[in-house]
Amino acid sequence: MNKYLLAASILSANFSYLGKEINDVIIAGVDIIHFDIMDNHYVPNLTIGPLVLKSLREYGIKDLFDVHLMTKPVDNLIISCAKAGANYITFHPECSNHIDRSISLIKKYGCKAGLAFNPSTSLNYLDYIIDKLDLILIMSVNPGFAGQKFIPNILSKIIQVRKIINKNKKNILLSIDGGINIKNINQIANSGANILVLGSTIFNNILSYKEIIKQIKTELKQIKYK
Ligand code: DX5
Ligand code: ZN
Repeated sequence: MNKYLLAASILSANFSYLGKEINDVIIAGVDIIHFDIMDNHYVPNLTIGPLVLKSLREYGIKDLFDVHLMTKPVDNLIISCAKAGANYITFHPECSNHIDRSISLIKKYGCKAGLAFNPSTSLNYLDYIIDKLDLILIMSVNPGFAGQKFIPNILSKIIQVRKIINKNKKNILLSIDGGINIKNINQIANSGANILVLGSTIFNNILSYKEIIKQIKTELKQIKYK
Protein backbone atom coordinates (compact mmCIF):
# COMPACT_ATOMS: atom_id res chain seq x y z
CA MET A 1 0.00 0.00 0.00
CA ASN A 2 1.01 3.56 -0.61
CA LYS A 3 2.69 5.11 2.41
CA TYR A 4 1.75 8.64 1.40
CA LEU A 5 -1.58 10.06 0.36
CA LEU A 6 -1.81 13.18 -1.73
CA ALA A 7 -4.65 15.61 -0.97
CA ALA A 8 -5.59 18.45 -3.32
CA SER A 9 -6.85 21.56 -1.50
CA ILE A 10 -9.51 22.97 -3.81
CA LEU A 11 -9.11 26.46 -2.34
CA SER A 12 -6.82 27.22 -5.28
CA ALA A 13 -9.03 25.55 -7.92
CA ASN A 14 -11.12 27.46 -10.43
CA PHE A 15 -14.56 27.60 -8.80
CA SER A 16 -16.37 28.36 -12.05
CA TYR A 17 -15.89 24.70 -13.02
CA LEU A 18 -15.09 23.04 -9.73
CA GLY A 19 -16.50 19.60 -10.60
CA LYS A 20 -14.24 19.36 -13.63
CA GLU A 21 -11.24 20.59 -11.66
CA ILE A 22 -11.79 17.82 -9.09
CA ASN A 23 -12.23 15.13 -11.75
CA ASP A 24 -9.06 16.35 -13.48
CA VAL A 25 -6.85 16.18 -10.37
CA ILE A 26 -8.28 12.77 -9.46
CA ILE A 27 -7.47 11.45 -12.94
CA ALA A 28 -4.01 12.99 -12.57
CA GLY A 29 -3.46 10.92 -9.42
CA VAL A 30 -4.45 12.68 -6.19
CA ASP A 31 -5.98 10.44 -3.51
CA ILE A 32 -8.08 12.89 -1.49
CA ILE A 33 -10.02 16.13 -2.07
CA HIS A 34 -9.40 18.62 0.76
CA PHE A 35 -12.23 21.11 1.42
CA ASP A 36 -11.31 24.29 3.26
CA ILE A 37 -14.45 25.67 4.87
CA MET A 38 -13.86 29.20 6.24
CA ASP A 39 -16.33 31.49 8.00
CA ASN A 40 -14.77 35.00 8.02
CA HIS A 41 -14.91 34.81 11.82
CA TYR A 42 -12.44 32.20 13.00
CA VAL A 43 -10.28 33.03 9.96
CA PRO A 44 -10.34 36.21 7.86
CA ASN A 45 -11.67 34.54 4.72
CA LEU A 46 -14.95 33.15 3.46
CA THR A 47 -15.16 30.07 1.26
CA ILE A 48 -17.60 27.27 0.59
CA GLY A 49 -19.92 25.13 2.70
CA PRO A 50 -21.88 21.87 2.68
CA LEU A 51 -24.09 22.98 -0.21
CA VAL A 52 -21.13 22.86 -2.59
CA LEU A 53 -19.97 19.55 -1.16
CA LYS A 54 -23.42 18.06 -1.70
CA SER A 55 -23.64 19.28 -5.29
CA LEU A 56 -20.24 17.74 -6.07
CA ARG A 57 -21.51 14.40 -4.77
CA GLU A 58 -24.62 14.78 -6.92
CA TYR A 59 -22.36 15.61 -9.88
CA GLY A 60 -20.93 12.10 -9.43
CA ILE A 61 -17.65 12.55 -7.55
CA LYS A 62 -17.13 9.50 -5.37
CA ASP A 63 -13.63 10.11 -4.05
CA LEU A 64 -12.55 10.78 -0.46
CA PHE A 65 -13.69 14.18 0.81
CA ASP A 66 -11.61 15.54 3.66
CA VAL A 67 -13.36 18.55 5.22
CA HIS A 68 -11.17 21.04 7.06
CA LEU A 69 -13.44 23.24 9.17
CA MET A 70 -11.99 26.67 9.93
CA THR A 71 -15.18 27.88 11.57
CA LYS A 72 -16.38 28.71 15.04
CA PRO A 73 -18.55 27.04 16.25
CA VAL A 74 -18.31 23.64 14.55
CA ASP A 75 -21.15 21.33 15.62
CA ASN A 76 -23.89 22.40 13.17
CA LEU A 77 -21.46 22.27 10.26
CA ILE A 78 -20.23 18.85 11.33
CA ILE A 79 -23.78 17.52 10.92
CA SER A 80 -24.44 19.25 7.60
CA CYS A 81 -21.05 18.30 6.11
CA ALA A 82 -21.55 14.67 7.14
CA LYS A 83 -25.01 14.65 5.55
CA ALA A 84 -23.60 16.29 2.41
CA GLY A 85 -21.09 13.47 1.87
CA ALA A 86 -17.89 14.16 3.84
CA ASN A 87 -15.65 11.22 4.74
CA TYR A 88 -13.24 12.95 7.14
CA ILE A 89 -14.15 16.01 9.20
CA THR A 90 -11.40 17.93 10.96
CA PHE A 91 -11.84 20.93 13.25
CA HIS A 92 -9.63 23.17 15.38
CA PRO A 93 -9.89 22.39 19.12
CA GLU A 94 -10.21 26.04 20.13
CA CYS A 95 -13.38 26.27 17.98
CA SER A 96 -15.36 23.76 20.04
CA ASN A 97 -16.54 24.25 23.62
CA HIS A 98 -16.62 20.47 24.07
CA ILE A 99 -13.98 18.74 21.96
CA ASP A 100 -14.96 15.22 22.97
CA ARG A 101 -18.60 15.92 22.13
CA SER A 102 -17.74 17.32 18.69
CA ILE A 103 -15.61 14.26 17.91
CA SER A 104 -18.42 11.96 18.98
CA LEU A 105 -20.79 13.92 16.75
CA ILE A 106 -18.52 13.37 13.73
CA LYS A 107 -18.52 9.64 14.42
CA LYS A 108 -22.23 9.48 15.13
CA TYR A 109 -22.81 10.76 11.60
CA GLY A 110 -20.54 8.13 10.10
CA CYS A 111 -17.37 10.12 9.41
CA LYS A 112 -13.76 9.86 10.56
CA ALA A 113 -12.63 12.53 13.01
CA GLY A 114 -9.62 14.83 12.87
CA LEU A 115 -8.17 17.57 15.07
CA ALA A 116 -6.26 20.49 13.50
CA PHE A 117 -3.39 22.41 15.11
CA ASN A 118 -2.34 25.90 14.06
CA PRO A 119 1.39 26.64 14.00
CA SER A 120 1.24 28.01 17.56
CA THR A 121 -1.44 25.70 19.00
CA SER A 122 -0.15 23.44 21.74
CA LEU A 123 -0.21 19.68 21.26
CA ASN A 124 -1.50 19.35 24.83
CA TYR A 125 -4.98 19.14 23.35
CA LEU A 126 -4.07 15.58 22.34
CA ASP A 127 -3.60 14.42 25.91
CA TYR A 128 -7.12 13.26 26.66
CA ILE A 129 -8.50 12.71 23.18
CA ILE A 130 -5.90 10.97 21.00
CA ASP A 131 -7.61 7.58 21.42
CA LYS A 132 -10.68 8.88 19.61
CA LEU A 133 -8.90 10.45 16.64
CA ASP A 134 -8.51 9.10 13.11
CA LEU A 135 -6.43 12.02 11.86
CA ILE A 136 -4.23 14.80 13.19
CA LEU A 137 -3.77 17.81 10.93
CA ILE A 138 -0.75 20.03 11.50
CA MET A 139 -0.99 23.45 9.92
CA SER A 140 2.29 24.63 8.48
CA VAL A 141 0.91 28.10 7.73
CA ASN A 142 -1.59 30.22 9.64
CA PRO A 143 -5.06 29.19 8.46
CA GLY A 144 -7.06 31.38 6.10
CA PHE A 145 -5.31 31.54 2.76
CA ALA A 146 -3.64 29.42 0.12
CA GLY A 147 -0.22 30.29 -1.26
CA GLN A 148 1.58 31.09 2.01
CA LYS A 149 5.13 30.09 2.88
CA PHE A 150 5.79 26.91 4.88
CA ILE A 151 6.87 27.78 8.46
CA PRO A 152 10.16 25.87 8.88
CA ASN A 153 9.96 25.16 12.63
CA ILE A 154 6.82 23.09 11.99
CA LEU A 155 9.12 20.25 10.93
CA SER A 156 10.04 19.61 14.57
CA LYS A 157 6.34 19.66 15.48
CA ILE A 158 5.65 17.01 12.81
CA ILE A 159 8.44 14.84 14.23
CA GLN A 160 6.96 15.28 17.70
CA VAL A 161 3.45 14.27 16.59
CA ARG A 162 4.81 11.25 14.73
CA LYS A 163 6.45 10.11 17.98
CA ILE A 164 3.19 10.61 19.91
CA ILE A 165 1.24 8.60 17.32
CA ASN A 166 3.78 5.76 17.27
CA LYS A 167 3.87 5.64 21.07
CA ASN A 168 0.10 5.45 21.13
CA LYS A 169 0.20 2.58 18.62
CA LYS A 170 -2.95 3.89 17.00
CA ASN A 171 -3.60 4.00 13.32
CA ILE A 172 -3.88 7.78 13.14
CA LEU A 173 -3.14 9.59 9.90
CA LEU A 174 -0.81 12.59 10.14
CA SER A 175 -1.76 15.26 7.65
CA ILE A 176 0.27 18.41 6.90
CA ASP A 177 -1.41 21.45 5.41
CA GLY A 178 0.06 24.66 3.99
CA GLY A 179 3.00 25.83 1.93
CA ILE A 180 4.00 22.42 0.59
CA ASN A 181 5.84 22.46 -2.72
CA ILE A 182 8.07 20.26 -4.84
CA LYS A 183 11.21 21.45 -2.99
CA ASN A 184 10.09 20.84 0.60
CA ILE A 185 7.73 17.85 0.25
CA ASN A 186 10.48 15.28 0.68
CA GLN A 187 11.59 16.71 4.02
CA ILE A 188 8.02 17.06 5.26
CA ALA A 189 7.13 13.47 4.39
CA ASN A 190 10.40 12.29 5.88
CA SER A 191 9.48 13.96 9.18
CA GLY A 192 6.55 11.58 9.58
CA ALA A 193 3.60 12.82 7.50
CA ASN A 194 1.11 10.45 5.83
CA ILE A 195 -1.11 12.95 4.04
CA LEU A 196 0.35 15.90 2.15
CA VAL A 197 -2.17 18.65 1.41
CA LEU A 198 -1.27 20.85 -1.55
CA GLY A 199 -3.28 23.73 -2.99
CA SER A 200 -1.39 26.27 -5.07
CA THR A 201 1.40 23.87 -6.01
CA ILE A 202 -1.17 21.75 -7.85
CA PHE A 203 -3.69 24.30 -9.12
CA ASN A 204 -1.52 27.37 -9.79
CA ASN A 205 1.25 25.63 -11.65
CA ILE A 206 2.45 26.16 -15.20
CA LEU A 207 2.71 22.39 -15.48
CA SER A 208 -0.34 20.25 -16.20
CA TYR A 209 -1.98 18.50 -13.23
CA LYS A 210 -0.69 15.20 -14.57
CA GLU A 211 2.89 16.44 -14.81
CA ILE A 212 3.06 18.19 -11.41
CA ILE A 213 1.46 15.24 -9.61
CA LYS A 214 3.89 12.88 -11.34
CA GLN A 215 6.78 15.06 -10.11
CA ILE A 216 5.38 15.13 -6.56
CA LYS A 217 5.05 11.34 -6.53
CA THR A 218 8.58 10.95 -7.84
CA GLU A 219 9.81 13.13 -4.96
CA LEU A 220 7.89 10.97 -2.47
CA LYS A 221 9.32 7.76 -3.92
CA GLN A 222 12.83 9.00 -3.19
CA ILE A 223 12.26 9.07 0.54
CA LYS A 224 14.60 6.93 2.56
CA TYR A 225 12.50 5.00 5.04
CA LYS A 226 13.71 5.29 8.60
C1 DX5 B 1 -5.14 27.20 4.58
C2 DX5 B 1 -5.77 25.94 4.08
C3 DX5 B 1 -4.89 25.10 3.19
C4 DX5 B 1 -4.45 25.81 1.94
C5 DX5 B 1 -3.30 25.07 1.31
O1 DX5 B 1 -5.92 27.76 5.56
O2 DX5 B 1 -6.16 25.13 5.17
O3 DX5 B 1 -5.53 23.87 2.89
O4 DX5 B 1 -5.47 25.92 1.01
O5 DX5 B 1 -2.88 25.81 0.23
P1 DX5 B 1 -1.33 25.94 -0.15
O6 DX5 B 1 -0.89 24.54 -0.51
O7 DX5 B 1 -1.33 26.87 -1.31
O8 DX5 B 1 -0.61 26.47 1.05
ZN1 ZN C 1 -6.83 23.03 4.80
